[in-house]
Amino acid sequence: MSSLVQAVAVRRSYAVETRTLDVLRGVDLSVAEGESLAITGMSGAGKSTLLHVLGGLDRPTSGQVLYRGRDFYALGDRERSAIRAQKIGFVFQAYHLLPELTVLENVLLPGLSAAGAFLRGPTLRARAAELLARVGLAERAAHRPNELSGGEQQRAALARALMNGPELLLADEPTGNLDSKTGEDVLRYLFELAGERNLTLVIVTHNEAVAARCRRHVVLRDGLPVA
Ligand SMILES: Nc1ncnc2c1ncn2[C@@H]1O[C@H](COP(=O)(O)OP(=O)(O)O)[C@@H](O)[C@H]1O
Ligand SMILES: [Mg+2]
Repeated sequence: MSSLVQAVAVRRSYAVETRTLDVLRGVDLSVAEGESLAITGMSGAGKSTLLHVLGGLDRPTSGQVLYRGRDFYALGDRERSAIRAQKIGFVFQAYHLLPELTVLENVLLPGLSAAGAFLRGPTLRARAAELLARVGLAERAAHRPNELSGGEQQRAALARALMNGPELLLADEPTGNLDSKTGEDVLRYLFELAGERNLTLVIVTHNEAVAARCRRHVVLRDGLPVA
């Protein structure tokens, strides 16, 4: 199967005061098109860093990320941003919905950057509304995020991640702030929607049961993938 995104000898270091913190220490990891991959590891192991690097959000200190075989960080910022906006959806632990916007507007927002040139406002609104309905939030479209529960906010964030019809979904501890029952609910939507759309899924999790639902499981330890 062909690789959608691949880390090749990826290192990521941070300068912390007078020393250098080597978070990723030469990661080789290939994610095939259509596969689901769980990444686990202790807190501070570099899971979020790796996810950001794979998703075009954080430039590695050295090494390469290949997106469909192209050197992701050798592309200009504009081109990399365009790929990110059109092809990659992100779900974060803390939802990161914009508080001033309605839930519908939050879901619609990515459409303005990536598809705004092609889709008119009413089309975008219809698409966002459809996604909200799909995650069981049709009735909450006009609400502000702070009027929703954590699970509802994360479902809205999932709808937002799918707004531009990505091929890759990157989720960073998507149930980390939720109790287990609410978390299960979010995961059911996440796996269902990703499955229907044949998305490639990379999910960072502390939950072994979540990892077991993915086709592949990698543990990050001392800045390197094991198993
Ligand atoms: N911008 C940054 N500057 C300095 N250190 C950072 C930065 N981002 C992350 N780190 C450090 O890198 C390590 C890995 O962080 P992270 O990838 O968030 O781990 P995880 O998601 O596995 O908990 C941690 O020790 C963290 O403190
Ligand atoms: Mg993290």
